[in-house]
Amino acid sequence: MKSLKGQLILWLVGLLTLVGGITGGISFFLALQEANTLLDRQLVEIAGSVDEGSRLPAMQARFRSENDKQKARDFVIQVWLKDEGARSSRPGFALPRAARTGFSDLRLPQVAGNAQWRAYTLIYPDRTVQVSQAADVRLEIATNSAMRVLLPVAALIPLSWLLVGLVVSRLLKPLELVTDAAARRELNNLDPLPTENIPLEVAPLIHAMNALVYRLSKALSAQRQFLSDAAHELRTPLAALRLQIDNLPHSPSPAELGIRIGDMRRGVQRASHLVAQLLKIARYEAQTKATALAMIDLNASVKDIIADLIPLADNRRIDLGLIQNDPTTIFANAEDIRILICNLLDNAIRYTPSGGQVDIRIAHDGENALVEISDSGPGIPDGLLPRVFDRFFRAAGQHTDGSGIGLSIVQAIAERASAKVTLANRPERSGLIASVVFCCPQKPAA
Ligand SMILES: Nc1ncnc2c1ncn2[C@@H]1O[C@H](COP(=O)(O)OP(=O)(O)O)[C@@H](O)[C@H]1O
Ligand SMILES: [Mg+2]
Repeated sequence: MKSLKGQLILWLVGLLTLVGGITGGISFFLALQEANTLLDRQLVEIAGSVDEGSRLPAMQARFRSENDKQKARDFVIQVWLKDEGARSSRPGFALPRAARTGFSDLRLPQVAGNAQWRAYTLIYPDRTVQVSQAADVRLEIATNSAMRVLLPVAALIPLSWLLVGLVVSRLLKPLELVTDAAARRELNNLDPLPTENIPLEVAPLIHAMNALVYRLSKALSAQRQFLSDAAHELRTPLAALRLQIDNLPHSPSPAELGIRIGDMRRGVQRASHLVAQLLKIARYEAQTKATALAMIDLNASVKDIIADLIPLADNRRIDLGLIQNDPTTIFANAEDIRILICNLLDNAIRYTPSGGQVDIRIAHDGENALVEISDSGPGIPDGLLPRVFDRFFRAAGQHTDGSGIGLSIVQAIAERASAKVTLANRPERSGLIASVVFCCPQKPAA
């Protein structure tokens, strides 16, 4: 993983160094040129101010008194009068005379220790004046003055590195604070991570993390609630069983003992059923992976479920019938759909009093498929309808065995299958209508 801070500092330092280097290079080159122009100007000025050579003896005397370094730096002035040979400000110095007025770069075998000279020659009718300077000396002077231009740039580059480091650290400080806050967070701390001073570009990430933390904590508290609800629901049948076991030794007769054991067996069955239902709902709610989907013949599935429940319906003398059966296929998980419809139909049969009627309708309007189960039972008081999908919820006054989990399983499956389940009381008479609409798309894209 790359560090944003490291990358930023590296790039900014690199760029500043490059820009500084280029700026320094250009400044150095320009200053060098400027210095050379100035030195040339000096040659012209000196040449212009020299007469027939009246000051040459004095200059020679001064030359002799100078040390080597000073000697090397001196301009050399040569004067030719019409009929005379060259006279020079430096004794014994003899550069050839240029033929024209102007500058010349002379490469000569060692003259006074220097091989290259820059000279300016001024030709009058009666005399010629030539001023020269050693190329080495010129280069040294020009380089020294150009270096002085370079110095501030060279000093500013490391300073800019320091500033980049400081500024980047300062800008990223809020991010470090959030990271710190997240790292030191207690599990049960729901407060959102701080977003003040956070850069605009990073704020969405922090908001998304806050939303995630919120959803996670909701899920965690739902889990905790589920566990405590489940424990509470299991405690009742287990407590009843314990009481029954405690009372067993006091059974007066073998017949009475048989009845009590029968009661206990039913209690154990209820508890096992509850545990099975709990496991089912836990599995459905935790399942995030897509289940295997396939095209399902809804009519055949419903017929199978009816066949399974006919004994129960007969036992309760319920008239169970399929009153509409449009050929319908849906794209879903077969087992999920079986459990969903089975739970609704099971409720309809169980909560309808003996001798009642349960009708099933399978219809579709081209886009949506509908399974509707209507019964002639008592229905559910309108005020309680919104709560029937809650776990462990049972409408008051039930004499039927149950755990209050069936409809939460139905709801969990419906959500996964993109189906919509609604329960409503029948308008024209007492009874409940449970409808399941399977929404599009019900078929995989071709
Ligand atoms: N067809 C129905 N008629 C009347 N009441 C119903 C019907 N279906 C469900 N209910 C009510 O909704 C409650 C929750 O149903 P469910 O989740 O299946 O749990 P259970 O059937 O185990 O009680 C039931 O206890 C019952 O009060
Ligand atoms: Mg039920």
